[in-house]
Amino acid sequence: MKHIFQQGKDASAPVLLLLHGTGGNEHDLLPIAEMISPDSSVLSVRGNVSENGMPRFFRRLAEGVFDEEDLIFRTKELYDFLDEAAEKYGFNRENMVAVGYSNGANIAGSLLFHYERALAGAILFHPMVPRRGVELPNLESTPVFIGAGKHDPICAPAETEELNELLKSAGADVTLKWQPGGHQLTREEVDQAKEWLDWDSERCSLL
Ligand code: MLT
Repeated sequence: MKHIFQQGKDASAPVLLLLHGTGGNEHDLLPIAEMISPDSSVLSVRGNVSENGMPRFFRRLAEGVFDEEDLIFRTKELYDFLDEAAEKYGFNRENMVAVGYSNGANIAGSLLFHYERALAGAILFHPMVPRRGVELPNLESTPVFIGAGKHDPICAPAETEELNELLKSAGADVTLKWQPGGHQLTREEVDQAKEWLDWDSERCSLL
């Protein structure tokens, strides 16, 4: 997969896996990673699907309606790529925290929904429920931060609550923070994610 890898100063800090939104690319979230954990190594990936020239991580049939078969295929493709990248660049695969926005948050959520220990943790900005009617793997103590908008037209608050409940019932340790606005990524939630990650690294449970 097309990507950027940047070696961080602190090899013990979580490796941030950056996953952009629809129409974005692997450069978009680099400044966010710098704000959240400046000493971390960063693996920033471009989605392999093109929707009228806009990169995405999986196909959709309509706005908010996912192509499930493609979602499953692309989730495995990304999962396998993470193993390859860890070997190539020599980072700790067990210490990877996803930072995803919108479509990128949805593929990060899909990694959590399909694979046990796919991620040591995840920061999901404006995620949706990636799939329904499946049994989630054991996510015991996996820390997840969700940033959501009270007036998000793409991801309704009820869907955010549903995701929160699904992750929690699989054992994930979810922190949900609401923003007053819509689907856009705000400085406030980036700051909240930074604080959450600092706190979690100190806790040293999985990270
Ligand atoms: C998706 O398709 O993943 C969501 O609708 C978010 C987006 O607009 O990309």
